[in-house]
Amino acid sequence: MTFAPTRASPALPASMTHSWGVSGRRGRRHTAVMTAATPQEQVAQWAGMFDRLSSSYDQTGVPFFSVIADGLVARLAPVPGERALDLGAGRGAATFPLADAVGTAGHVDAMDIAPGMVEATRTAVRERGLSQVDVMIGDASEPALANGAYDLVASSLVVFFLPEPERSLALWAALLRPGGRLGISTFRPWRGVWRSIEEVFWDYHDDPGRPAATEMPEVYATDEGVAGLLSRAGLHDVRTEIATYVVPFADTEEWRRWSLGTAMSGLWMRAPEESHPEILARVGEFLDQSRGPDGRVGLEVDIRYTLGRASAG
Ligand SMILES: C[S@@+](CC[C@H](N)C(=O)[O-])C[C@H]1O[C@@H](n2cnc3c(N)ncnc32)[C@H](O)[C@@H]1O
Repeated sequence: MTFAPTRASPALPASMTHSWGVSGRRGRRHTAVMTAATPQEQVAQWAGMFDRLSSSYDQTGVPFFSVIADGLVARLAPVPGERALDLGAGRGAATFPLADAVGTAGHVDAMDIAPGMVEATRTAVRERGLSQVDVMIGDASEPALANGAYDLVASSLVVFFLPEPERSLALWAALLRPGGRLGISTFRPWRGVWRSIEEVFWDYHDDPGRPAATEMPEVYATDEGVAGLLSRAGLHDVRTEIATYVVPFADTEEWRRWSLGTAMSGLWMRAPEESHPEILARVGEFLDQSRGPDGRVGLEVDIRYTLGRASAG
């Protein structure tokens, strides 16, 4: 779904990228040539973008990231006393429900690479008096943590930012105790109004050589692709569950503010400033099509939860 300019990693060549919203009309985007970057450069690029977003990320009150993370935590079924790890914790969408579930007898480590996210989440943890949570800065693609230390690892809407996801997932699996659980959430390909909105932006992006902000590696286009990542990372009993959430927006302006606080800001940044009012008007027409009887916009988003277990040892 929502991505600022990205580049394919050497491990995932351009031919293996998938554009979520590709249509015949704008098929030029489908095969955009990507400039290879080192994994380290890619990690730094995302860290910079999320650091810039950190003060507004997930702060508009639109129930999006927390709802998705709640679904992940529920599926991982933490119990009091367990040790949990939240990788790519952002503003704590999964961290807080994990902390509630494991209680003060348990522990949650929350890691993010963006200093602004870490600082803001640390403050929220302090304000809530959660002694069982540690928020740390670190690279989830290669977490420097003790193997076998966690009962469960959660990562909500993160893995598609990692340059070598299979390798990272194998490292995450090693952090689990024997039989420990791992769960990730990812976006299924956009459809309906999300896709139409994305296509509106494409009309204003004038450099087709750069990948679209919403492109991601082909492996995330299918449930089997993501399940395969976990299986090849050495996880067992891999299963996929899908949830469709209806994201409510009061109006177009709320949608605009929300989008600017997410990785969708990349779509805005690539369109010339003077085109923004026109983009918003066109997006508004699509949003109007999704109004319910109460007048509120409700946009359906499909989330994929992929879960697995470490071997029993
Ligand atoms: C879409 S946000 C999701 C945040 C949170 N899990 C949530 O559901 O709201 C992606 C998060 O992953 C973090 N991230 C991206 N690459 C990372 C990496 N290599 N190591 C750690 N965190 C990373 C970003 O800083 C950002 O906070």
